[in-house]
Amino acid sequence: MKTEILALTIKEEKIVKTLFTRGLKDLPEVFSGIFGEADRVCVLTEARSGGKIKKNLARLLGPARKNFIYYSLTGRGGKKTTAELEKLCLFLLKHGFSRQSLLIAAGGGSVTDLAGFAASIYMRGIKWVSIPTTFLGQIDAGLGGKTAVNLGGVKNILGSFYQPSLAVCDTTFLDSLPPKELLSGAGELLKYAFIGGEALRKTLISNLKAVLKGDKNALFKCVKACAEFKMFIVSKDEKDENGKREILNFGHTAAHAFETLSKGRLPHGEAVARGLRFALLVSKETGLLPEKDFKKTNSLLDSLALPPLSAACGDFKRFLALISKDKKSRGLENRFVLIKAPGLTETAENIKPETLKLALERTIRKH
Ligand SMILES: NC(=O)c1ccc[n+]([C@@H]2O[C@H](COP(=O)([O-])OP(=O)(O)OC[C@H]3O[C@@H](n4cnc5c(N)ncnc54)[C@H](O)[C@@H]3O)[C@@H](O)[C@H]2O)c1
Repeated sequence: MKTEILALTIKEEKIVKTLFTRGLKDLPEVFSGIFGEADRVCVLTEARSGGKIKKNLARLLGPARKNFIYYSLTGRGGKKTTAELEKLCLFLLKHGFSRQSLLIAAGGGSVTDLAGFAASIYMRGIKWVSIPTTFLGQIDAGLGGKTAVNLGGVKNILGSFYQPSLAVCDTTFLDSLPPKELLSGAGELLKYAFIGGEALRKTLISNLKAVLKGDKNALFKCVKACAEFKMFIVSKDEKDENGKREILNFGHTAAHAFETLSKGRLPHGEAVARGLRFALLVSKETGLLPEKDFKKTNSLLDSLALPPLSAACGDFKRFLALISKDKKSRGLENRFVLIKAPGLTETAENIKPETLKLALERTIRKH
């Protein structure tokens, strides 16, 4: 597994670098431009995963790490909160961070989402480096420049589009991930398998079992394939303006509702897997997705053998209220990304409540 760099130009001259590696040493030496220009560097991790990522992070950051300032999120009430955001920004201010400073975020999607948002608003924007340390983070959350914190119990209400100068997917971090986090990442992996082209789908489906077992080669292959696909889509529609990036939301409208209804206890990727099932059912019930394609895609979700959803997720009235509040609904009753066939998406609006109710009941019944 050699180190590779994908450099994509987003809009005119904005270049976003995504690095795929396993065991690279001394990142500041390799990217001396980004690190050398900074007057101060803050490394953000989180208390819970800090111990597990410490050794790999130290190797990656090299000797310069001794000059960096460290901040650890405790996030007892959740990591993506306005309270955590304020604490982090106050820390930067107290330690003399300026517009020339750099923020490095190493952690799961909740850490990179918070850090990216903080970087986008601190002194109207400072540079940041994203080092996702979960499988879900490396294939999705740590890439693409969507940043956010939650507000009033609703996901990602405050946020920005703010690209990191560099995203580093180092799969050695994944060695310490528990099976539950691999399963969560597999939810997003199946999203790519359902919306991506044939080559991507083949790579992901043929490596799915091995990924769930933590196989290092399979993880590296899938991280690279998913990240390249995501960054290609982002390069065509960075700010979700022309419909191209919207396909990445497949399954996410219902997923966000499930996360809220389960009071944040459902891991994001597991919620996405349930949201995918819901979206497949709606696609079939509205006559878009033929039965044979439904069976094929749905059986891949079955292969994840997910634990049952809590009864709270089946509360149809609250579910409807949440999907109408979703950012993606654009003020309509509801708006979903659906599929006509693997790799072929279509958006649909104002779907009949009876159809949604049926799909929700079936999603809840089938774990
Ligand atoms: N910005 C985006 O485009 C985007 C896309 C998808 C998801 N997200 C967001 O990402 C978040 C989910 O991310 P996540 O699944 O990474 O969850 P997470 O950040 O909560 O991390 C999951 C768990 O893994 C632990 N962990 C992290 N790295 C580890 C390591 N190397 N070894 C062992 N344990 C480790 C963490 O302590 C945590 O308990 C959600 O908030 C979701 O909304 C954002």
